Amino acid sequence: MDKFDLIVLGGGPAGYLAAERAGHAGLKTAVVEKRALGGVCLNEGCVPSKTFLNSAKIYEHALHGKAYGVTAENVKIDQNVVVDRKNKVVKQLVGGVGMQMKANHVTVLNGNGKICGKCEEGFKIEVDGTAYACDKLIIATGSTAFVPPIKGAKESLESGFALTNREILDLREIPEKLVVIGGGVIGLEMASYFNSVGSKVTVVEMLNKIAGPTDSEISNFLLKEYQKKGVDFKLGCAVTEIADGKVVYTENGESKSVEADKVLIAIGRRAFTQDIGLETIGVYTERGNIVTDENLRTNVAGVYATGDVNGKIMLAHTAYRESEVAVNHILGKKDKMRYHAIPSVIYTTPEVGAVGETEDSAKEKGLDFRVANISMRFSGRFVAENEGGDGICKLIIDNKYDRLIGVHLIGSYASEIIYGAAMMIESEYRIKDLKELVFPHPTVCEIIREALFQ
Ligand code: NAI
Repeated sequence: MDKFDLIVLGGGPAGYLAAERAGHAGLKTAVVEKRALGGVCLNEGCVPSKTFLNSAKIYEHALHGKAYGVTAENVKIDQNVVVDRKNKVVKQLVGGVGMQMKANHVTVLNGNGKICGKCEEGFKIEVDGTAYACDKLIIATGSTAFVPPIKGAKESLESGFALTNREILDLREIPEKLVVIGGGVIGLEMASYFNSVGSKVTVVEMLNKIAGPTDSEISNFLLKEYQKKGVDFKLGCAVTEIADGKVVYTENGESKSVEADKVLIAIGRRAFTQDIGLETIGVYTERGNIVTDENLRTNVAGVYATGDVNGKIMLAHTAYRESEVAVNHILGKKDKMRYHAIPSVIYTTPEVGAVGETEDSAKEKGLDFRVANISMRFSGRFVAENEGGDGICKLIIDNKYDRLIGVHLIGSYASEIIYGAAMMIESEYRIKDLKELVFPHPTVCEIIREALFQ
């Protein structure tokens, strides 16, 4: 039986990053992947959805360039080219991960991995029936789209009438009427794309707000922007049935329906822990998520769980950092995971970038805080580039220590600016120190400096 210092179960962002770091540090490492390296993020999530959204952006620029002195005729979007390009990008990046594995001497085991208890040499892992042993194990099996126990959901997915984030990115025809169930991140990004390229989009969301935990003021702004663009939002409406050609939902106790050519189910994801043999070594889970500590250790010595599978923050960049912390722990290096300054982005137009406490969460926690809120129009570059547009920059400032505890942006480049805000929170600078920072001019990020001086 081949023996490794470390086996990583799952080759998504959590898994390949863990394998890369461990291999680089000299551990004899294997990563097990049953589909393609890169996982959901590279193959059917973060990256491919960005190729779609960039095509939509270019299309919209061509359509609406008149205010900027640019006119174009006969502007068309070709969904086949969009999907082909997406596949090309995915292939390139997945190939890049494979090369990284090679460069760091990581063995890639293609197949379905399963934990099969312990053996004399450590943990026993079977990959499509072949047994391997390892001293340490990182479980990075990710998550899968949650299919709600609502009437017709399973059948609609089987017939292709309903789709998850996986299938929608292979759609070669633009549906005339798209109903999106769930107004969270996936729902909004896909609603944005299909609205741009001509579908009549309806979003049915159970809560009274979109974008889940996003600061309410920002999510309201986003809601209004998309209503202006023609997306129909059914808020406070729970879907009860997906039937042929329609989605049935309840609004204030009344049953209603909306017609659809395709339905996207985007009501969250669940940790993938079924049938991977957790019970054979006694790994503890809570509500389906593997329980981990600040070093990403599970209750079983030598076993770690990083990425979506621990259900903490289901974002690829959280997974990267968690995997680094786990590998550092294995290597005996001092490190620990901190979750309070992890930025998040929604790639709509306008983009949303957020980090730390929202006004709502700060209130709920009873924190002593103040809010600095400023329009994006205070940024010269924003005005120069966004004819008639607006956005928000909102800072949440802790009064006791006079430092930033939350930053929320809606407007262009928010996705690229937010990491800077996360660094300000992570490094715990006082507001007076942040005021001394010099920002490049003219940029949209200067809006943070403007807000600090409010
Ligand atoms: P989500 O949790 O963000 O949103 C799901 C939404 O569905 C919620 O607003 C919920 O209230 C609603 N919902 C639940 N049951 C419903 C029902 N029966 N009828 C109507 N609405 C219902 O989940 P989503 O959008 O599927 O995303 C999954 C994960 O992927 C998230 O954890 C997200 O962080 C991650 N992701 C991150 C992205 C990014 O960072 N840009 C992009 C895409 C996904």
